[in-house]
Amino acid sequence: MGGSLKAAHARSIEDREGFWAEQAQLIDWHEPFEKVLDYSRPPFARWFVGGQTNLCHNAVDRHLDSLGDEPALIYVSTETDQERVYTFRELHAEVVRMAAIMQSLGVGRGDRVLIYMPMVAEAIFAMLACARIGAIHSVVFGGFASGSLASRIEDASPSLIVSADAGSRAGKVIAYKPLLDEAIRLSSHKPANVLMVDRDLAPMTMVEGRDHDYSTLRERHLDAKVPVTWLESNEVSYTLYTSGTTGRPKGVQRDVGGYAVALAASMKHIYCGNAGETYFSSSDIGWVVGHSYIVYGPLIAGMATIVYEGTPVRPDAGILWQLVEKYRVTVMFSAPTAIRVLKKQDPSHLTRYDTSSLRALFLAGEPLDEPTARWISEGLGRPIIDNYWQTETGWPILTVAHGIEQTPTRLGSPGMPMYGYDVRLLHEQTGREVGANEKGVIAIVPPLPPGCMQTVWGDDDRFVSTYFESIPGRQVYSTFDWGIRDDDGYYFILGRTDDVINVAGHRLGTREIEESISSHPAVAEVAVVGVADQLKGQVAVGFAVLKDPGSIEQADARLALEGEIMRTVDRQLGAVARPARVHFVTLLPKTRSGKVLRRSIQALCEGRDPGDLTTIEDPGALDQVRQALA
Ligand code: PRX
Repeated sequence: MGGSLKAAHARSIEDREGFWAEQAQLIDWHEPFEKVLDYSRPPFARWFVGGQTNLCHNAVDRHLDSLGDEPALIYVSTETDQERVYTFRELHAEVVRMAAIMQSLGVGRGDRVLIYMPMVAEAIFAMLACARIGAIHSVVFGGFASGSLASRIEDASPSLIVSADAGSRAGKVIAYKPLLDEAIRLSSHKPANVLMVDRDLAPMTMVEGRDHDYSTLRERHLDAKVPVTWLESNEVSYTLYTSGTTGRPKGVQRDVGGYAVALAASMKHIYCGNAGETYFSSSDIGWVVGHSYIVYGPLIAGMATIVYEGTPVRPDAGILWQLVEKYRVTVMFSAPTAIRVLKKQDPSHLTRYDTSSLRALFLAGEPLDEPTARWISEGLGRPIIDNYWQTETGWPILTVAHGIEQTPTRLGSPGMPMYGYDVRLLHEQTGREVGANEKGVIAIVPPLPPGCMQTVWGDDDRFVSTYFESIPGRQVYSTFDWGIRDDDGYYFILGRTDDVINVAGHRLGTREIEESISSHPAVAEVAVVGVADQLKGQVAVGFAVLKDPGSIEQADARLALEGEIMRTVDRQLGAVARPARVHFVTLLPKTRSGKVLRRSIQALCEGRDPGDLTTIEDPGALDQVRQALA
């Protein structure tokens, strides 16, 4: 594709079908599609209708002839000191074995398989095995605990769960099996089978008839042959749960063909990765970045992908760059938080290794502040590319695309609309389009391009009402992010319009945390807000009203209760969701109609003006917040 990003973008909107028909040539089709886009039922878009393809085929099988003996998956764990390189041929063999195991456990096309695993190679085998046989995977982040896991088991109703005895973070082993058993106990849906990978990190109690040992079954299927199942482009490849305004997580549902095409196109035009090279993303398969740009994207592009279990600072703060040097990484993807963590360490780690293979470092998932961007770009001497997108979209909405043209980047901006996305900035209340340098909600005029969510799993109405009915007067997709555009068309992200917060790049709903805190018997009511944090971007802070305020008159009682509440959140949602502080008040600031004034609480926490308070029921409630913070 020649020309400019702006020209490519314009063409992708004016001649949608022509544009995407060309991109579709980047992947293999078993049967060609009959129609590029079916948009007969807005806002539901169906891409490449009638085409038959398979994600696993495109990620693995089709590279066997040209890249069979080249690295495909590079597994590195600094937690267990393991390192293993799988060639495409070896990856293929492992995926086929895993697929055979799944089939032997009765898993077939359209069945759900929930994957609750740390960053181990077997997790990737399981995802690709599902894709191979047309089963729908739902990966749940290994940092989540029983409560979060239970609600996802309930919603996805998997026939099989794949898990491991334990994960490990910063040298601390976290046993998964007890969390999984508890989650299954809490859920009304019970999986028929559970497949356990035993890493020998934690003891496991196996449930007779339900739980199976992976290595035993693998031995039985060493020479298995499992052909790919050709799927119609719009069949479901996976669901991935994400947080929104309500406490109930949404299963973002994705297709097969559109996703494969979007990933292939973005690997070529945004990430600029070539077959035979190595790609390294430090994200986790529990998040969308892991799906798109640890597993499917790089492999579809014929690149080796590094699967890393560990932190950016162990054994020391040079580990990421050491891996770049060792595996000649050309494209890297991380989150601003990881870089902020490194910024606190000795800067010589940045220059100790030869990182000259690296063409660019991509950062996404949360706002990239200017000092961090400058620090890493000067330290590495490589281009830093900020890109903005969401679990819902699966690939970047705003970015620069150096595979099309060398658009200069601008500090603090993730760039411009990527092709396929008809991005508008709209006034929150009137829906009118705002001009340059005016704040608006970032919205996308449907149809959404290939690769974006098809619907909310099992709930088409929720898909429409959540995403397409929040801006008055027009059916447009809301990102729930505020943005602003400068005179040259560069966008800047100004934070969420809803109750979603972003802690160290992890997307969390404040409502989920509130529900968890409220389940503590001492708590009558609670409000949780996201508060700006130097390192993590944001942290959760809670303000709780107790049933018996007298119980915490003593400072030790207050501290003890705060600790107990935090442990409740740890147990139910996982440590990622643990609030930094829980303050106690006797009253929450609310409007006269009873809505908690979360934005005012947040403003006070960040030392800002609490804003318009004409609707507040009792101004004394804000004084309590102030006092608690003092
Ligand atoms: O608020 C935006 C923020 O993260 C949200 C999406 O998070 P998630 O669904 O986990 O997907 C992450 C995919 C990279 C967005 O609604 N966000 C994401 N990227 C950026 C960002 N905020 C500022 N700058 C970004 N580059």
